[in-house]
Amino acid sequence: MSDSRVIIFDTTLRDGEQSPGASMSKDEKLRIARVLEKMQVDVIEAGFAIASPGDYEAVKLVADNIKNTKVCSLARALELDIDRAASALKNAVAGRIHTFIATSPIHMKFKLQMRPEQVVERAVSSVKYARNLIDDVEFSLEDASRSELDFMCLIIEKVIDAGARTINIPDTVGYALPQEFALSIANLIQRVPNAHKAVFSVHCHNDLGLAVANSLAAINAGARQVECTINGLGERAGNASLEELAMALHTRREYLQLYTALDHSQIVPASKLVSSITGFPVQPNKAIVGANAFAHESGIHQDGILKHRETYEIMRAEDVGWSTNRLVMGKHSGRAAFRARLEELGSSFNSDAQLNAAFSRFKELADKKHEIVDADLISLVSVTQSSESYEKYQLSSLAVSSQTGEIPLAKVSMVCDGLEQRCEATGGGPVDAVLCAIENIVKSGATQQLYSVNAITSGTDSQGEVTVRLEKNGRIVNGIGADTDIIIASAKAYIHALNLLDAHIEKAHPQV
Ligand code: KIV
Ligand code: ZN
Repeated sequence: MSDSRVIIFDTTLRDGEQSPGASMSKDEKLRIARVLEKMQVDVIEAGFAIASPGDYEAVKLVADNIKNTKVCSLARALELDIDRAASALKNAVAGRIHTFIATSPIHMKFKLQMRPEQVVERAVSSVKYARNLIDDVEFSLEDASRSELDFMCLIIEKVIDAGARTINIPDTVGYALPQEFALSIANLIQRVPNAHKAVFSVHCHNDLGLAVANSLAAINAGARQVECTINGLGERAGNASLEELAMALHTRREYLQLYTALDHSQIVPASKLVSSITGFPVQPNKAIVGANAFAHESGIHQDGILKHRETYEIMRAEDVGWSTNRLVMGKHSGRAAFRARLEELGSSFNSDAQLNAAFSRFKELADKKHEIVDADLISLVSVTQSSESYEKYQLSSLAVSSQTGEIPLAKVSMVCDGLEQRCEATGGGPVDAVLCAIENIVKSGATQQLYSVNAITSGTDSQGEVTVRLEKNGRIVNGIGADTDIIIASAKAYIHALNLLDAHIEKAHPQV
């Protein structure tokens, strides 16, 4: 690979999924992986195979189906983890095991309770073990930005000798500053004698809002792989955002003299898909993928743009996929056209039952909204897939009365474990009244951490996509619901969250 080529390693399905409440089902992960494949990212980190049976299945499903992009699983530096990752990746056309251990004094002493020599020994034996199972092994020095340079040089030299092909330097806690981080990368590349035998990678978290800046500084200092996520999703404040990195590299290519293999036109579809599946809305002023990213409000700017586009525009909205949200279908569209358009958007169905369920939702929607665009379809599939498994709670009907000067009143009827139940409640507003009525029936005791409504399209006939985040006993889930009536969408989202809480998906966390 040419020295000016930057490898894009997407970890939306692994680190992105570590955002509280962003769990994805295996089918949802495959949908995202298909768009990433279409975008031509180089590596998809599909999950952490040992974390749970569901994670294993998801890595396997992605590895079995994705043919043109390398698929990777995370594994701690433990034989058990590495075996599980290798097994999930067995059918991958190209697979990678990404193994890691912490190298900072604070992590080694308090978290691992291991001496530095033991950490080196474990790192080397894990890389050797993984290389016996797969050709492509990446090694990460967790909390590298707070690790000692000499110790990092020592461990990196040994793991490269043991067969690691990629050395990842994570800023795990988002502590680094661009100049400082660049200097560390340059020093490592210069001081490690066998550095030329591996690709240096960075993985930056955004706790100080510097993830993209740190990644770019590291690339400038010689790193040739960046780990990033769609919409900057990820643990705590998230990871470096793929779209920002990609467009910075592309827009400033003459200055940076670097390139990627990405098809930028897939950026907006990928962003919308990830947002719809996870229920994490994209802030309007988010670079590249925010609704306002290309909207010029000031008269002076608009005038400039009309006279000569480049006066205020450094990128074209259509180049990152903004114009692809074309009108697709209406109530007369058939099942074949519906399926074909979804396949073009990267969504396929595992069974006829799933296709039928999505198609009947589409018909219901087409009765209420005559122009159905791609964003509606993406949301529709997300909602169908997220409510596929057994649902303890289902909404039967709801009625709300809301009038100026009156306290809103909701009457909700729902099925709980096969039994029809009803309740009435008042609330601060109609949505509040409905959610109170549902809670009165279910008595979940969960704490509501977030309620957000996002209009999927721009007209007043838009579907509202609602996210409700609930927390109970330390578990956080994001329920999503979409409808042209936002009160119904809210009820659906709340009930979806209750069903997720009920599903009890236990997962191990890689850093614990
Ligand atoms: O942030 C981090 O250090 C990680 C590693 C597991 C690569 O996610
Ligand atoms: Zn991370």
